[in-house]
Amino acid sequence: MPFNTVLTRKLGIRVPVVQGGMQWVGYAELASAVSNAGGLGLLTALTQPTPEDLRKEIRRCRTMTKYPFGVNLTLLPSLVPPDYAAYAQVIIDEGIKIVETAGNNPGPVIQQLKKAGIIILHKCTTIRHAKSAVKLGVDFLSIDGFECAGHVGEHDITNFILLSRARQELGVPFIASGGFADGQGLAAALALGAEGINMGTRFMSTVEAPIHHNIKQAIVDAQETDTALVMRRWTNTTRLFKNKVTEEALKVERESKTDDFSVMAPHVSGKRGREVFINGDKDFGVWTAGQVIGLIHDIPTCAVLLERIEKEALEAVSRTRSLYNDVPASKL
Ligand SMILES: Cc1cc2nc3c(=O)[nH]c(=O)nc-3n(C[C@H](O)[C@H](O)[C@H](O)COP(=O)(O)O)c2cc1C
Repeated sequence: MPFNTVLTRKLGIRVPVVQGGMQWVGYAELASAVSNAGGLGLLTALTQPTPEDLRKEIRRCRTMTKYPFGVNLTLLPSLVPPDYAAYAQVIIDEGIKIVETAGNNPGPVIQQLKKAGIIILHKCTTIRHAKSAVKLGVDFLSIDGFECAGHVGEHDITNFILLSRARQELGVPFIASGGFADGQGLAAALALGAEGINMGTRFMSTVEAPIHHNIKQAIVDAQETDTALVMRRWTNTTRLFKNKVTEEALKVERESKTDDFSVMAPHVSGKRGREVFINGDKDFGVWTAGQVIGLIHDIPTCAVLLERIEKEALEAVSRTRSLYNDVPASKL
């Protein structure tokens, strides 16, 4: 077991790699494959229409892995919010040991889960939000840089700055999220003070990700310049895969005479985005991907991916060591 970080120790995993929550992707097939491969797989609670469906999905995942896996619970602004407390209760009842929380106003849910002794990994894009989460007693932070897929926040701070700020300021173990796909990235994150990494987009392009092959291939074919930032005008900036629909959405965002979100809503429909993963037409709706698409060139199994990441990280560390002249072993 080459890695020994707070994350691997506390979660009982071999490789310090978490598969971040992913709406319409984070089902049992992927979460169990990541956990079986030595990382931490996460089910995404809101891919399940009701808390009872989440219970079934947790049970299904248990039949697919004997290793620990967690659940992501994302709190997003919504006119009719899901019953977060009921989802959290199912997570507690089903004996899940770790939850990734993300989004707005996570206090009540974190409190509910912490009371049950659950380890909380809270994901955020600013040091200010990270500090608020520390006050809520979270166990780990997942620091999501501007490179990341999905909600990037409004400050556009990339991980080179954000991770070092986390190291300087937080005093709570953190993992690095956004822009990671390989072991060189893992080694860099560990060097910057992180206890591991979180990956989203990279796991979409794996054999076990339960999405259409065309979308995995679209990620392989894409470059780091193929994402677009949409919805800044509504302070809800989201990084999406660049396609026909994001071009239309950006045009509406630029040219609309009104700030009324109803002009934008049809262009960023989550329903059509979900359909993309099923029908394999990358231009059917908007879907999320990070700048890391430029680093993804294949569709491996999760086991092959994590083995490769493990090996590359070790090679990167020994390469770095070899760049120091005559350092006595006692000083290393
Ligand atoms: C398709 C997709 C859906 C996502 N959905 C969610 C979500 O529902 N909740 C959440 O907290 N993060 C979500 N994310 C973000 C990931 O958990 C992770 O933080 C992000 O992908 C990290 O950046 P990376 O893609 O560069 O690895 C999603 C990411 C992708 C690619």
